Amino acid sequence: MTAPVPLSGPRFQTEPAQLYREMRRDHGAVTPVVLDGDIPAWLVLGYRELHQVTGDPVLFSRDSDLWSQWDRIPDDWPLLPMIGRKQPSILYTVGERHRERAAMISNALEAVDPSELRGYAEKFADELIDAICAKGETDIFADYAMLLPVRVLARLYGFSDEQGPGLVTALNDMIDGRERAIAGQTHLATSMFRLLADRKAEPADDVVSRMLADESGFSDEEIAQDLMVMMAAGHQPTADWIGNSLRLMLTDDRFAASLFGGRNSVADAMNEVLWEDTPTQNVAGRWASRDTQLGGRRIRAGDLLLLGLQGANSDPQVRTDGSALTGGNSAHFSFGHGEHRCPFPAQEVAEVIARTGIEVVLDRLPDIDLAVPAESLTRRPSPWLRGLTELPVRFSPTPALGGASL
Ligand code: HEM
Repeated sequence: MTAPVPLSGPRFQTEPAQLYREMRRDHGAVTPVVLDGDIPAWLVLGYRELHQVTGDPVLFSRDSDLWSQWDRIPDDWPLLPMIGRKQPSILYTVGERHRERAAMISNALEAVDPSELRGYAEKFADELIDAICAKGETDIFADYAMLLPVRVLARLYGFSDEQGPGLVTALNDMIDGRERAIAGQTHLATSMFRLLADRKAEPADDVVSRMLADESGFSDEEIAQDLMVMMAAGHQPTADWIGNSLRLMLTDDRFAASLFGGRNSVADAMNEVLWEDTPTQNVAGRWASRDTQLGGRRIRAGDLLLLGLQGANSDPQVRTDGSALTGGNSAHFSFGHGEHRCPFPAQEVAEVIARTGIEVVLDRLPDIDLAVPAESLTRRPSPWLRGLTELPVRFSPTPALGGASL
């Protein structure tokens, strides 16, 4: 019996595809892993097995109280913010109340006017390019991709344009997890509660007002928690989707044509990234509500199962001919599956922000090229979200367009 695999280390950064292949070879579709502090869990890498787990929210629950390991988890466990004790957000809500909550969020996002969304994305993307276009070189990940999604989301949710830059800094500080993280989180939470109070007094045509108008009786505290999830879960994966797609287009000859005019392959690159280099590699998690079998493994009540989205996307059982599954095929697991998947309207919002963001780069900086050798590009050290540390590019300097406003 091979020892469980530590869910950490540089190989998640440097060669994840090879690592998932080895895990599958040595352990099968449901791999035993250990988290920080020697905490055991299962990583579900099989496409069919992941379908089973995400499709049965009663047997494989989102209720973290079920976890058998809580007495071994210290208060300062580094994974607590992600695997967390039950927080009052949608993420850890189950059953009928979860369905009502997901409907509240979906309805509020679904009412976003697509052309207005596209307009905001273009406006903020143009502003960000204005700040860099005269320089002839930049880190297009840090100075662009990491600044765009949160600006657009903040505007959709109901924040004013003046609040935008402060929210961008606060959210990125929080995600960064270093000394400014708590201050960032506090700024975000305070801003959320202020916005809720403002919209209660005077509703407007925005996501927050629609969530407040929902009739399922969610408290301000619950709505604020969900807004935090919608900000954080929305921003970073969308920023990484932009970064990973631009990297692919700048390093792979198959996409060179679209850098010089053609647009079709922006969508192709974005879809290929979701299959091969997805922003959410592994997601925590589900807890077994009773003893069961999965992929030939005996799972005990209270066990933690991690969703191996990238592993399942590359499962040879479904990828017998890799090329047939990319192109327009979107049967990947990159947005999850089942009741707790990323809400469909959220997926659409993310897609518009990412596609518009990439198109604006190609329109405004048409001769953009990598400023470093492709092999020197590195990823952030994480088994969870997969994104670049930086994406240095150069281009012919061009003048700014100036403040076109909506
Ligand atoms: C506008 C952008 C986005 C918003 C507002 C958003 C929002 C959300 C929310 C609220 C959930 C929780 C659903 C629930 O528990 O019922 C969720 C789940 C999820 N999101 Fe998104 N999201 C966005 C973009 C993305 C992107 C770009 C990706 C990856 C490419 C992604 C991947 C996921 C995944 C994998 C889950 C499911 C986790 C699970 O099954 O436990 N999301 N998202």
